[in-house]
Amino acid sequence: MEERSSNNTPPGNHPRQQPGSQQPGNEGPVKSPRQQPGSQGPGKTVRQQSGGDGPGAPADQYRRERIRRVTQNFFLHIHSTRVHPHALNPTYTFGLGVMLGFLFLVMIITGVLLMLHYTPSVDAAYNSVKDIVHVVPGGRIIRNIHRLASNFMVLIVFLHLLRTFYTGSYSGGRQLNWVIGVVMFVVVLLMSFSGYLLPWDQLSYWAVTIGSNIAASARELTDLLGITRFADIGGFLQRLLIGGETVGQEALTRFFMLHVIFLPMTLLVLTGVHFWRIRKDGGLSRPKDEATEKQEKLYSWPLVMWAELAILAGVLAVLVLLAFFVEAPLLEQANPSHPENPAKSPWYFLGIQELVSYSAFAGGLLVPVLFLYFLFSIPYKDREEQYIGQWFSGSKGLKVTWKAAFMSLLVVVLQVFIMVRFGWLRDWFPGISQWFVLLFNPATISVLVFALYAVRVGRKSGSARMSAMALFTAAVVALILFTVIGIWFRGANWEFIAGG
Ligand code: HEM
Repeated sequence: MEERSSNNTPPGNHPRQQPGSQQPGNEGPVKSPRQQPGSQGPGKTVRQQSGGDGPGAPADQYRRERIRRVTQNFFLHIHSTRVHPHALNPTYTFGLGVMLGFLFLVMIITGVLLMLHYTPSVDAAYNSVKDIVHVVPGGRIIRNIHRLASNFMVLIVFLHLLRTFYTGSYSGGRQLNWVIGVVMFVVVLLMSFSGYLLPWDQLSYWAVTIGSNIAASARELTDLLGITRFADIGGFLQRLLIGGETVGQEALTRFFMLHVIFLPMTLLVLTGVHFWRIRKDGGLSRPKDEATEKQEKLYSWPLVMWAELAILAGVLAVLVLLAFFVEAPLLEQANPSHPENPAKSPWYFLGIQELVSYSAFAGGLLVPVLFLYFLFSIPYKDREEQYIGQWFSGSKGLKVTWKAAFMSLLVVVLQVFIMVRFGWLRDWFPGISQWFVLLFNPATISVLVFALYAVRVGRKSGSARMSAMALFTAAVVALILFTVIGIWFRGANWEFIAGG
């Protein structure tokens, strides 16, 4: 464990790599016995080397000095004092988690600035945003940065999820942190979605209307069962989200409170627990082989600080530069009697919207719930620890990943092709029961094929890890494909268009 092993050495430099060097945070009279000339060398504890740790003994003085330095250094409050070189490999993490942390910070700062001029009422919201863009000095850039950061957060949280999955980082005691991560993933999506409504323009109004219809998608099932009058689960979820049947002041108030208080606070607490867990779990995951374990750990200060500052500078540079060229959209003021056509949800929900167009219940509830269940359960189904810290679990896993991606591509493209070219059940048998439409559509068929495929991979390889990788890859590729279709290939009345 990085934490425990760091107890005997001071922050600031690496005794073996930089003999005798003085680094910020390590100057001062007290040195670790490992650094003293003539010390007994590695392998012995501070207590053994210093001849005791009672009050006034060198080890006791060293411990006090170490505590003093850590308490005075904010960086070392968050980071472990030492880090394994494997965690610093840029192609292991790609700095995605750190980027997310900074993006969240940028969102909080720009969000607070925007709030100074924003009014959360249906009569004033649109004009207050217009003022921010055209009247408030710097308001346009701040709004653009806020919007860009929110889109990047959604994209990068997804990439971070992929990276932690494909490096097997959910195993080896990190199960809880993975589960916390999945909750954070959902919170990031909701945070972005709740902000969508606030400008109260045509785009936001109809996107949230679509979102609220997705929330009500359980009605397809309860209608078929004839129980909607007694158990209107869809209606309940919709009312919970927007406070009624249609988007209005109640929805705006709820979204505003969710966006500026509840969700950021939740994400802040979860981020704290997430970071704490990384330390408790012994730092980032790494292969459990002898060569990796033998590698000498490095002091985090100042090495990791410089790496993180470089990521921060990069994130800020990209955001500020793009903010001058990419305008956050603002259409006409929301008009409930003039629907946008096509009315599209935010881009990250367009995959779900595409599935909803096949079957409301299957696309809006069944598939998302199954996908979340799968994500939460991965670390408890796959307990194989030999692949931790290795991208794709080595060449065997890479092959499984490619094959699953190709299979998913075929399954999705073939079904969409049939649907667009020849129609689907209701086009062939107009009087067919809605049960068939609900049970047999590209959403449910894909889930079934992927699940069977994953079982087959599991049986053939005898590995739960390979099976999880096959299912995860197939689901992710399908999600990306349905999202691409929703973004670029759906036009007015949700008709298929050739692209653009
Ligand atoms: C706002 C959201 C998030 C933030 C700010 C965040 C931040 C971080 C940071 C800074 C790290 C260490 C550096 C790195 O791995 O890049 C990390 C590691 C980790 N994250 Fe996240 N994360 C978030 C969301 C997620 C999600 C959605 C998941 C997965 C479902 C996840 C799972 C993990 C795991 C398992 C680790 C440990 C990785 C390892 O041991 O190699 N995190 N996270």
